[in-house]
Amino acid sequence: MRNPRILILDRSFELLGQVGEVAEELRPRPEVVSCDRIDQVGELLCDGEPFDVLVAGPSLGDQAGLARLQVIHDDLPGMSIVLAFSHRPHAHLRDLVRTGALDLLQLPVHHKQLRESLERAIEVSASLRAAVPVTLAAPAPEWPSLVAQPRALGQVFTVASATGGCGKTFMATNLAYFLAHHSGKRVCVVDLDLQFGEVSTALRLKPRYTIYDALQREDDDAADLADHFEEYLVGHETGVQVLAAPKDPSEADRVSPPDVTKVIDAARKHFDYVVVDTPSALTEIVLAAFESSERLFVMATLDLPSVRNLGVFLNTLEKLKVPTDNIRLVLNKAESDVGIEVGQVEKLFPQGFEAVLPYAKEVSRSINLGMPVLASSPGAEVSRSMVPTMATLLPAEARSRIALPAPPSHGQRLFQRLFHRPQPSIS
Ligand SMILES: Nc1ncnc2c1ncn2[C@@H]1O[C@H](COP(=O)(O)OP(=O)(O)OP(=O)(O)O)[C@@H](O)[C@H]1O
Ligand SMILES: [Mg+2]
Repeated sequence: MRNPRILILDRSFELLGQVGEVAEELRPRPEVVSCDRIDQVGELLCDGEPFDVLVAGPSLGDQAGLARLQVIHDDLPGMSIVLAFSHRPHAHLRDLVRTGALDLLQLPVHHKQLRESLERAIEVSASLRAAVPVTLAAPAPEWPSLVAQPRALGQVFTVASATGGCGKTFMATNLAYFLAHHSGKRVCVVDLDLQFGEVSTALRLKPRYTIYDALQREDDDAADLADHFEEYLVGHETGVQVLAAPKDPSEADRVSPPDVTKVIDAARKHFDYVVVDTPSALTEIVLAAFESSERLFVMATLDLPSVRNLGVFLNTLEKLKVPTDNIRLVLNKAESDVGIEVGQVEKLFPQGFEAVLPYAKEVSRSINLGMPVLASSPGAEVSRSMVPTMATLLPAEARSRIALPAPPSHGQRLFQRLFHRPQPSIS
């Protein structure tokens, strides 16, 4: 019979001495290993002999620590977890339960109590091991957060508009999918529409945590947020990861512009591309996102209020001395016979529209499927119209592999001519 193995996970070494003393008395005598660096845990648990018991010390006693234990428990259900905290953690009872812990010890703990707890944990693990394999066949999707390597900072692209319903969320989710699909790199969407964010709804995701939880970390240190960033994300089947908006709109007020910078900085440490969705307003939060962005897509639809407000939006940015050379305009839901033509609107904005996207029923269908339209209907006109502008964001080598849309067919040319028909001024 092999000797049991106990892993102590804590930043301080206090627990190690006590567990070591207990281990001396147990037969067979367990091997005790201690780890104080979270970036070593993945390797320790994945490589070599499995551990029977994980003792989590006080430094895991917050919401993020419990989230990390939950990931470990989900991947290694045969390993017993014992929590040894000095205080009751600042977390919901549910978060504690979800770690699957067998016992919760209050430190300082009596020798006898610790011994009983470890004996039981070893026994439970032995019987579970008979039923459940305790080694990881391959790292789980969340695992890279535990063994993250230093990486170059990702690029940030933000989608904004002056009026609601212009298609920001539609654009943001499709852009994220496009970048992930064509670059093969890691992409994250940060939903900064803090009150009514809909990125998770558009992708049919059920986030466990949100940006609000990420900012609730007890350890108010930007480096710490970056270390734990991925624990707060929810993944879509396309590989795109999402940091969701708060569940309760009242939590939105507690997110400040410096928080936004901190979150985006953390995101770009983990992801090659960070796409930011925003509310339809020029708030301090949105301006903080602009400051971190390499490219800004400003959207409008083909109606008078939206077009007028696009002008106000751009003028305001100029007044605020926000650099405008990285801004690209996108006109969405373009339809004929709505009283304004694309040609008229283009005349009002000398920088021009980088993309004009038609109104398309495929978009509603894609939302109902929880898939970006680029994935659900790649051949649709609306998808094809998005490609050229999104392709400019890819590295040249990835761009060269994309088949850009063929020249417009006769029917499409007719459609465009109808749109571009000269019209009287609308101002
Ligand atoms: N090109 C399009 N064709 C048809 N429907 C579209 C198109 N673009 C977006 N929509 C639909 O319009 C609605 C609003 O789009 P979306 O939620 O992306 O806009 P938004 O700018 O994020 O809105 P909000 O300001 O409320 O956040 C959604 O139901 C979406 O499916
Ligand atoms: Mg939106």
